[in-house]
Parts: sequence; C-alpha cells; structure tokens
Amino acid sequence: MKKIVISIFIFCPFAVLAQTNIKPSIERGKTLYETYCLTCHQDDGGGVPKLNPPLIKTSYVSGDKKKLIKWVLQGTTDKIAIDGKFYSNNMAPQDNLKDDEIADVLTYIRNSFGNKGSAVTPAEVKTVRATIK
Ligand code: HEC
Repeated sequence: MKKIVISIFIFCPFAVLAQTNIKPSIERGKTLYETYCLTCHQDDGGGVPKLNPPLIKTSYVSGDKKKLIKWVLQGTTDKIAIDGKFYSNNMAPQDNLKDDEIADVLTYIRNSFGNKGSAVTPAEVKTVRATIK
C-alpha cells in the first residue's frame, strides 16, 4: 500500500506536466505556421476554394498522425481529392523543417481552427522521415 501511495506522488506531477507541455508546442507551432503555411492555408485555416484546402477537421489533420506527417514532409504535385474536393495548387515538401518544428506546427494545426487532437512528437516525425528517405 505504501508503495502505491508513493508512486502516485511520484508520477502525478509527470502526468500534469505531460498535459501542460502541449501549450509551448502550440505556441511555437503558431509562429511556424505563420511563416511556412499561412500564405496558402490562410490565418483561419480555411484555405482558398479550389486552390488550397482547408485544415479544418479534414481527414488528414484529424486522422492518422503518420499519414499527416508524411504529407507535410513530402508535399504533393498530384491532384488528390481531399474529403471529396480537388485543389489546383501544389504543396511544396516541408522537409527543410526539423523534426521538432514539424511536430510543433502539426500540434498547432491539430489544436487550432476548431480542431482538437493529440500532440505530434519529434520522435514520431523522425520515425516517419526515416521511412521516406
Ligand atoms: C504553396 C501553398 C502551400 C503551402 C505553403 C502549404 N500548403 Fe499544405 N497544401 C497545399 C495544397 C495545394 C494542398 C492540397 C494538394 C492536393 O490537393 O493535391 C495542401 C494540403 C495540405 C494538407 C492535407 C490536406 C488537408 O487539407 O488536410 C495538410 C495537412 C497541409 N497541406 C498542411 C500544411 C502545413 C502544415 C504547411 C506548412 C508547414 C503547409 N501545408 C504549407 C498548399 C500549401
């Protein structure tokens, strides 16, 4: 019993930290978004009709994190339907951004524009990057 009580005291602050840790990542991600993504996806994440898709509750932003990371690292010149709609612009690969920068910007978009998602970690980005190079 004593052991259980002690472990609760030891692990509790870490649980709290893990929760609040997402905020600095979102803050950093906002600045990165404004620098690298805003011109196309707009400040409200609404995109531009027929040109650049929105980042609001799309199957990429709210879906599988691996797929999302891969997309942003690779960009695309293919015309891929996004939730049934086509967009004529191309998205340049964002692989010049570091693992922690990709993690921050994706954590930001997954928690902005009405989206609510878990954080993306630099380790997750690293893993996906290794599979595409
Ligand atoms: C030059 C304009 C441009 C820039 C800059 C850009 N994107 Fe894109 N993005 C696009 C276009 C166009 C598509 C859709 C391509 C298609 O339909 O094939 C897209 C698609 C996406 C998608 C998947 C579809 C969706 O709407 O959910 C995500 C996620 C995304 N972009 C995130 C980002 C992030 C994050 C950045 C900044 C690091 C960024 N983009 C920078 C033009 C851009």
